[in-house]
Amino acid sequence: MEGLQIGKKDQFIEKVLLNSTELRLLGSTSGLEIMHQTIYKNRMFYLYPSDNPDVTEFIYFISGKVTGEINKEKVELVPGDYCLVNGLKDPVHFTALTDVTYLIVTTEHSFSHISNEILTLKGFVNQVEKKDRYTFLHSERVAEYSIMIAKKLRLSPEQLKSLYLAAGYHDVGKINVPEEILNKPGSLTDEEFDIIKKHPVDSVKMIQHIYSGKILKIIEQHHERLNGSGYPYGLKEDEILFESKIIAVADTFDAMTEDRAYRKAFSAQYALEEIKRLSGTHYDEKVVAAFEAVLMEEGKI
Ligand SMILES: [Fe+2]
Ligand SMILES: [Fe+2]
Repeated sequence: MEGLQIGKKDQFIEKVLLNSTELRLLGSTSGLEIMHQTIYKNRMFYLYPSDNPDVTEFIYFISGKVTGEINKEKVELVPGDYCLVNGLKDPVHFTALTDVTYLIVTTEHSFSHISNEILTLKGFVNQVEKKDRYTFLHSERVAEYSIMIAKKLRLSPEQLKSLYLAAGYHDVGKINVPEEILNKPGSLTDEEFDIIKKHPVDSVKMIQHIYSGKILKIIEQHHERLNGSGYPYGLKEDEILFESKIIAVADTFDAMTEDRAYRKAFSAQYALEEIKRLSGTHYDEKVVAAFEAVLMEEGKI
């Protein structure tokens, strides 16, 4: 009938899938978008303040359970609970305790944006993953640690957004590093290390047609160290973006605490001690202190 559209269960206009989420567009009119999202267990998701104060977003939980912290109070949301978001000042994050589904009604046209972003990201990370299974999960964890550090340090919503994206893409340039070098046990030759050193710039080249400015700079500098001993440019102190300093710590920690082809994982405590030993010379002291607090809160140390 004209003016009426009936959708049956599991029908959708468009669907995007990523490791941690599935998003379906159910309906779209000039002023409204209705989406169905699934977030898988143990993954995080965020409510971000909108740049446009008129935007309203309504989220209705259908199944599963999430937990989050709002004004220092723990909140649990279960089926039937909902959030109405309008004029949000600070980002809020939730962790899915089970697989979670919810409905989103928003006055902002975001699906095409999210959908293209997710698909591009998915394409790249799939390529990298084929070669190096480790990189994909690594990037997700680095993004999550980075956001926790940034929130501790009260970075602005814009900073959080670019940090999250930059962390997600930081190593995609590793697609150009031969497998034998990526997974080589023992130390690398100078030539091999020179190839590794290209990956921050290669990551930038791979996504510069979608993103610009700050995000690219953050990625490019994620292996720079305070005393100038990093790469690709040997930048020092204030020459390095604060967001890159955050990724540097999260990245090192994650690399040390995961099993690699050539060695067993170090304990969280050991990895943190190593990072603390280099605090002030390699890593930013404020970032390291915030990260220690995050690990303590998360019960990792
Ligand atoms: Fe890297
Ligand atoms: Fe990394």
